[in-house]
Amino acid sequence: MKLLLKAVTIASAFVATPVLAESWTLAPESSHLAYGTIKKDTVGEVNSFSGLSGHVSPDGKAEIKIDLSSVETNIDIRNERMIEYVFRNAGTASLTADFEMEEASGLGIGESAIIDAEAVLSLAGTDIEFDAEMFVLRVSETSVMVSTNDMVFLSTEDAGVNAGVDKLMELASLPGITRSVPITARLMFNMDDKKAEAAPTAPVAVAAVEGDIKAGKKVFRKCKACHQLKEGRHTVGPSLHGIIGASAGQADGFKYSGPLQDSGIVWNAETLAAFLSDPKGSIPGNKMQFPGLKKDKDITNVIAYLQAEAQG
Ligand code: HEC
Repeated sequence: MKLLLKAVTIASAFVATPVLAESWTLAPESSHLAYGTIKKDTVGEVNSFSGLSGHVSPDGKAEIKIDLSSVETNIDIRNERMIEYVFRNAGTASLTADFEMEEASGLGIGESAIIDAEAVLSLAGTDIEFDAEMFVLRVSETSVMVSTNDMVFLSTEDAGVNAGVDKLMELASLPGITRSVPITARLMFNMDDKKAEAAPTAPVAVAAVEGDIKAGKKVFRKCKACHQLKEGRHTVGPSLHGIIGASAGQADGFKYSGPLQDSGIVWNAETLAAFLSDPKGSIPGNKMQFPGLKKDKDITNVIAYLQAEAQG
């Protein structure tokens, strides 16, 4: 039983990660927030902030703090003037945004999506609302990169910093500084999850060691009387293609019993183990005419086999 539980824990960590929404913490060392200015119509410059911190909650609410004193304009005196006149020594600015996290957390590694974010920048007592298209890339099991898809423009007037920009022009004897500021961001987030910290390497391989796939294939002979793994190939029972992570009773084209269809179960190592050890008792009234597997080892192994073969 101990062995089974271990396999179940590892396998459910693997199954749960891409499906459930998680919370995320900004990784400052690999994030970058910059804005551009153009002076005298011709000289373009990039300023950036190194002091970023932030967090995204499982429902997609992001809050990012920008340490305004960390601004880097590449000239010390300009940094000081920027902090004093434009940011008015406000300390931090905050950026809050609503991301459609459902889409982002469903992404597989290497997959990307473009999502809309409604954002509010709070700077020295002024709130500026804007919409931005963000490009989201799932970099690894535990990290996501979010960047602006296009440039975002903020007007210095909306931001309440026009007077500060006037002052900079006066101090630097400049005839003009643009009043529309392009902004770009690259934000890296790491998942806040103990499961994720504990499983940095391929969890599939770990599960495979716990349950013996080869032995599981033999156990599956019992199932084969009624189940195929090919997608859409229903026989006495439904095809078990993609069964791990699927909701019970939802394969297209198979007529399920009511109790299975309405069970609300999502198939993972844990729910499968409960079902296969006692099909009748765990979902009363379902129509799988199978007494169940008596040996824990057979259950662990057939789940390992399903995990390896029924996906993709
Ligand atoms: C005698 C035929 C038969 C055998 C043998 C059998 N099953 Fe089933 N199985 C069914 C039927 C029929 C259903 C649909 C039950 C319902 O709709 O209530 C089902 C349903 C299932 C489901 C739910 C599928 C879904 O889409 O939600 C799983 C998982 C499953 N079986 C796994 C197994 C495994 C693993 C074995 C072997 C250890 C096995 N079954 C052996 C007939 C069988």
